[in-house]
Amino acid sequence: MPLVNTREMFKKAYEEGYAIGAFNVNNMEIIQGITEAAKNQKAPLILQVSSGARKYANHTYLIKLVEAALIETDLPIALHLDHGDSFELCKACIDGGFTSVMIDGSHLSFEDNITLTKKVVDYAKPRNVSVEGELGRLAGVEDEINVNAEDASYTKPEEVEEFVKRTGVDSLAIAIGTSHGAFKFKGEAKLRFDILEEVGKRLPGFPIVLHGASSVVPEYVQLINEHGGEIAGAKGVPEEMLRRAASMAVCKINIDSDLRLAMTAKVREALEQDPKNFDPRKYLSPARDAIKEIVEHKIVEVLGCNGKA
Ligand code: G3H
Ligand code: 13P
Ligand code: ZN
Repeated sequence: MPLVNTREMFKKAYEEGYAIGAFNVNNMEIIQGITEAAKNQKAPLILQVSSGARKYANHTYLIKLVEAALIETDLPIALHLDHGDSFELCKACIDGGFTSVMIDGSHLSFEDNITLTKKVVDYAKPRNVSVEGELGRLAGVEDEINVNAEDASYTKPEEVEEFVKRTGVDSLAIAIGTSHGAFKFKGEAKLRFDILEEVGKRLPGFPIVLHGASSVVPEYVQLINEHGGEIAGAKGVPEEMLRRAASMAVCKINIDSDLRLAMTAKVREALEQDPKNFDPRKYLSPARDAIKEIVEHKIVEVLGCNGKA
């Protein structure tokens, strides 16, 4: 099956009340772990590439690895640019075979965000590529830019209809209290479901995207800390909150940090258990298995998209 865009995936997900997992990819083992999990669970999939990932792994390598995954899995997979920050980057990804792009103008004024987002939509639509926009600003680290909690802001529901109408985006990322990275909440986790509900009412049938949705699985955090790491105090979004969001208008849930934690935990453990080992296959195999395990868990227990491919 060739790569697909996100339109049909989101339509079905919205109607049936589940979400598609959008997992960040940076190398072969991550792509293999995610796609083997999705194949086992017959789940539709979004593989997303940040500009940092594209710089690290190279556009062509990533495309070819994803093409290999299509052959191996025969699943509906969308290849998506995560947090595109310019028209030029979105255009390069569209011209280079991506089927979906995010243009993140969330740091701009409302008018400038609309102008930039519409420019990307005008280029993407005739090429059958779907576009995600963003309104509101998450806290946390994105492409090495640290957004302080004070600079983060919730999405204003009264802006969403005009934004979607004037830009023509296919989906909209909103800020309801999640953040990027492994340190999301100091105290109790709180999400503004009232904002999500209001956005859903104003945009009936329209797919909403939730960024910063890793749960920061305690077992992996513990494993990292037990094997020489120092990430005390890490805290993510409780799974029941994600399930609730997926049953509402949220059709795409972005997960990166949980994969990083799983992979790092297993590499640390394997190297400590066998200090004489210097064969990367011996520590990357358990890391790849851990990615597969966590992604299957997300698909079945959090997203509810198993069997929907
Ligand atoms: O939203 C950010 C994603 O986790 C990607 O992170 O920019 O470090 O690749 P990155
Ligand atoms: P996490 O850091 O919570 O995994 O969020 C990833 C993300 O939103 C990628 O765009
Ligand atoms: Zn994000």
